[in-house]
Amino acid sequence: MSARIAVVGGTGKTGRAVCAALQGSGADAVPLGRSAWIDLVGALTGCDAVYVIAPNMHADEAAYTEAVVTAAQRAGVSRLVLHSVASPYVPAMPHHVGKAQAEDVVRRSGLDWSVLQPGVYVQNFAPGTTIRLPYRAEAPFGFADLDDVALVAARVLLEQGHEGATYELASFRATAGELAGSLGSRVELVRPRQWAAAEGKGLEPRVRDWLLAMFAYYDRHGLPVGTLPMRVLLERAPRALVRT
Ligand SMILES: NC(=O)c1ccc[n+]([C@@H]2O[C@H](COP(=O)([O-])OP(=O)(O)OC[C@H]3O[C@@H](n4cnc5c(N)ncnc54)[C@H](OP(=O)(O)O)[C@@H]3O)[C@@H](O)[C@H]2O)c1
Repeated sequence: MSARIAVVGGTGKTGRAVCAALQGSGADAVPLGRSAWIDLVGALTGCDAVYVIAPNMHADEAAYTEAVVTAAQRAGVSRLVLHSVASPYVPAMPHHVGKAQAEDVVRRSGLDWSVLQPGVYVQNFAPGTTIRLPYRAEAPFGFADLDDVALVAARVLLEQGHEGATYELASFRATAGELAGSLGSRVELVRPRQWAAAEGKGLEPRVRDWLLAMFAYYDRHGLPVGTLPMRVLLERAPRALVRT
């Protein structure tokens, strides 16, 4: 019988990729969007493992994760993998700190946990467009291709031996400008103030402030991530920087 894996947040961008990779590996993926929270215990019952993805910029990721942990315990699901982020403990970025706190919840859960820490997704950069960048184009990153991340997530969920492991995941190292150029996109540098008045205008003030804090951190430090764990877990070279 194929393994049945619940993916909390499975109807979003990351979740769809993880469900596709699970199905490609012969598992039965159960994507759970926000409507599943009416009866999360019921939704998790009968599953062999749960993958936990928090919504973007969630106000309280620790509470969100704690609710999934509690539901998993009640449903008798002992295996849980958390989708976190590279460098979660960065006090200057509140949404990263939320992920650090969510990791702490998972590590104290008593469940058989693993944590995945992907870098910034390649897919955040649209090919063949003008990308308005509110931080310097020379900022260094370890970019994670979402399809690579999803394949690793499926492996970690379906194979034994990853319990208690935390893997930082990037497909390649590049600057933001190099990635944009490799995708045939043009970078237009914008001041954070300009971004706040345009893209950030309709956002909830907390989310806008957290994104501005992220841009300020990226401007100074980027978000470098090592590429070796991805290479090892894929058992092949991760996606390379695309040259057009
Ligand atoms: N983008 C990156 O570069 C990057 C890198 C590393 C980590 N991450 C992390 O990846 C995570 C997922 O990002 P994403 O872009 O895949 O998100 P997304 O496409 O916005 O998907 C969000 C998921 O959460 C569900 N959801 C939304 N609001 C909810 C609520 N109030 N209660 C319960 N469920 C709710 C959505 O369900 P519905 O479909 O029902 O709305 C959907 O399944 C984020 O935590 C992000 O920080 C992103």
